Amino acid sequence: MPAIVILGAQWGDEGKGKATDLLATTSTIDFVVRTSGGHNAGHTIVVNGERFATHLLPSGILAPGCTSVIAGGVVVSPEALFRELDALSARGVDVSRLVVSANAHIIASYHSTVDKVTERFLGKNKIGTTGRGIGPAYADKVNRLGIRVADLFDEGILRQKVGASLELKNHMLAKVYNRRAIEAAVVVDELLSYAERLRPMVADTSLLLNRALDEGRTVLFEGAQATMLDVDHGTYPFVTSSNPVAGGVCTGAGVGPTRIDRVIGVIKAYTTRVGSGPFPTELFDADGEKLWEIGGEVGVSTGRNRRCGWYDAVVARYSSRVNGLTDYFLTKLDVLSSWESIPVCVAYEIDGVRHDEMPMTQTEFHHAKPIYEHFDGWGDDISGVRSFGDLPKNARRYVEALEAMSGTRIWGVGVGPGREQTLLVHD
Ligand code: GDP
Ligand code: IMO
Ligand code: MG
Repeated sequence: MPAIVILGAQWGDEGKGKATDLLATTSTIDFVVRTSGGHNAGHTIVVNGERFATHLLPSGILAPGCTSVIAGGVVVSPEALFRELDALSARGVDVSRLVVSANAHIIASYHSTVDKVTERFLGKNKIGTTGRGIGPAYADKVNRLGIRVADLFDEGILRQKVGASLELKNHMLAKVYNRRAIEAAVVVDELLSYAERLRPMVADTSLLLNRALDEGRTVLFEGAQATMLDVDHGTYPFVTSSNPVAGGVCTGAGVGPTRIDRVIGVIKAYTTRVGSGPFPTELFDADGEKLWEIGGEVGVSTGRNRRCGWYDAVVARYSSRVNGLTDYFLTKLDVLSSWESIPVCVAYEIDGVRHDEMPMTQTEFHHAKPIYEHFDGWGDDISGVRSFGDLPKNARRYVEALEAMSGTRIWGVGVGPGREQTLLVHD
């Protein structure tokens, strides 16, 4: 199975880190690759009870023998990169096998400044970004005002590009946002200070990965963010600024679609969302609070509380479709153990009309009211169960019902954060 994609099927934080780590440590994965987003991600991996979080680094950094790759579609803050590498090194993790694309765009300090002032300016219309400068860095890329990793090795070019990128921003900062202008020379000096440490890690990652695939090596593409946060297919404008869907893997990595063999969507047995934007199954009652508490739904990157709601099969079907999923990995089934009856959204009612598929327009989606079917709960703690057949009958029924209505077979089920707390439904 040479090329596998793992991606988020809802609004993020589905357990992509756990799924990646599971595959990277239980099968022979040679490369784990991030292809989009940046250090806005927060992926948790629990190894022998010890908790790790990765942000910009691929979770494969924790799997012995794997080469970790940050591909060209990622936006890289060198400061965040080195902070993360140093923190993992200090915990004894071998971080020597990291490769960074020469084409990846740089997040400089001014990108997070612009991110924060823009959010403040938007007021009640804010997106609720992570404030990491992701949107402004991708905006510069598309505006052809970006700085790429390779530019750090040519001081003349770097000065020219930083100057060009800051010119308009400084007018905006001073005249619109009433902020002090940012000095290009200070930014250049900061970026140059990272260059020598970064240089040995930098490569043509498209060439590296395509050659690896030619040699029959196995490459795992680890998604960040999620389908409903995709700038084209998510709940625009309440989205991130990249393409976390399966198609984004090809553009982000420089690997053609014909090379991808398997696309695994990671999906929670309920739903969460961080930041602003529509969320039809969101709960504002005691059940929502209970999901939040039992699920430990606090953001790994920003520490913000996640909004919680029931499983949404319309979202699952949509994710199956836009990503061409081959499998689902269903996480956090254990969190639902104490409910007597579990609602699942099977369709939406929008202005009096039933919709079994995602509505065409965002306005309709904002008006969507969930139509629920109720499933019997199972009552028992399932976190110690180690085979799908040993789950209580109602838990199996819940999984089978989700499989039937979600458009894709469920390959594995998570019953806890640990590597070993995974049940395979289909081999
Ligand atoms: P990611 O961003 O998709 O990698 O997900 P996060 O790490 O942000 O959030 C997922 C959270 O759920 C983490 O705290 C994981 O340790 C935890 N987790 C993953 N799978 C399971 C599971 O099956 N059961 C439980 N209880 N927790 C899980
Ligand atoms: P992982 O990989 C959940 C959300 C932010 C905000 C919106 C835009 O851990 O699943 P941005 O800073 O990207 O411009 O913010 O996207 N967001 C995430 N939500 N999980 C993530 O990553 C997210 N990355 C961004 O909360 O609503
Ligand atoms: Mg996360």
